[in-house]
Amino acid sequence: MSAPSTNHHRGVGVEVRGLRKSFGKQEVLKGVEFSVSPGEVFVLMGPSGSGKSVLLRHIIGLEPPDAGDILIANKSIQEPGVFDEHHLAMVFQSGALLNSMTVGENVGLYLAEHRLKPPEEINRIVSEKLAAVGLAGVEDKLPAELSGGMKKRAAIARALVSEPALILYDEPTSELDPVSAVVVGEEIARLNQSSGVTSIVVSHDRDLAFGIADRIAVILEGKILAIGSPAEIRRIEEPAIQDFLNAKFSRPKSS
Ligand SMILES: Nc1ncnc2c1ncn2[C@@H]1O[C@H](COP(=O)(O)OP(=O)(O)OP(=O)(O)O)[C@@H](O)[C@H]1O
Ligand SMILES: [Mg+2]
Repeated sequence: MSAPSTNHHRGVGVEVRGLRKSFGKQEVLKGVEFSVSPGEVFVLMGPSGSGKSVLLRHIIGLEPPDAGDILIANKSIQEPGVFDEHHLAMVFQSGALLNSMTVGENVGLYLAEHRLKPPEEINRIVSEKLAAVGLAGVEDKLPAELSGGMKKRAAIARALVSEPALILYDEPTSELDPVSAVVVGEEIARLNQSSGVTSIVVSHDRDLAFGIADRIAVILEGKILAIGSPAEIRRIEEPAIQDFLNAKFSRPKSS
């Protein structure tokens, strides 16, 4: 066995301050504020179109804010070098594996592109990360040969390769059957525990949120409506939050 490459105090804190963003006339983020502690699993829930993916894109520096700031380990991401000092990784909503490459090449892409390690070392790390998400031995398959749940887990393995201090997951369980969703959720929680990586998870999967979150934030129309532990969020009586958390199908009554 190789030495574990994990570090139990690797996670960074994240602070989002007064974040505002409009696209044209549409105000998408209307002063979003929250902070996430090092090593926390923080789940952001909210309906479709509420601004969750836009918020994540700001945190990884892909989108410049109109106002407000984001701090990683107490340092504004506007300052140069913050992303060199602390690796961030994002598991995109679409999974986004490149179909022309094998799964192994996808997972090792970061290391190969940055010429960070010799090829044998990259192969070893790729196998280690695939095994960490329960996908040992799929290196030579093409993404098209994996199930949806396996693709999501491969995308997580790819995120792990940079030894991130913060992982952002955008809808990691969407498109998955309930059992695969549980497997992916358990994987997120387990990686968080074994490495201490801070995890921000965007999802409308209520089972996932209440199952793995240390704290949950509810975002509606570009504003954070509530933040608290799963138990605290369940106790909030505000109708806008309860309607979202308790939405159910109702069958039309036959007359
Ligand atoms: N680059 C962009 N240009 C213009 N409008 C955008 C852009 N990105 C997002 N939007 C708009 O911002 C709003 C929020 O989008 P966002 O993708 O953050 O929603 P979401 O909460 O992630 O929804 P979902 O749960 O469906 O993924 C939407 O109305 C969307 O159309
Ligand atoms: Mg989204």
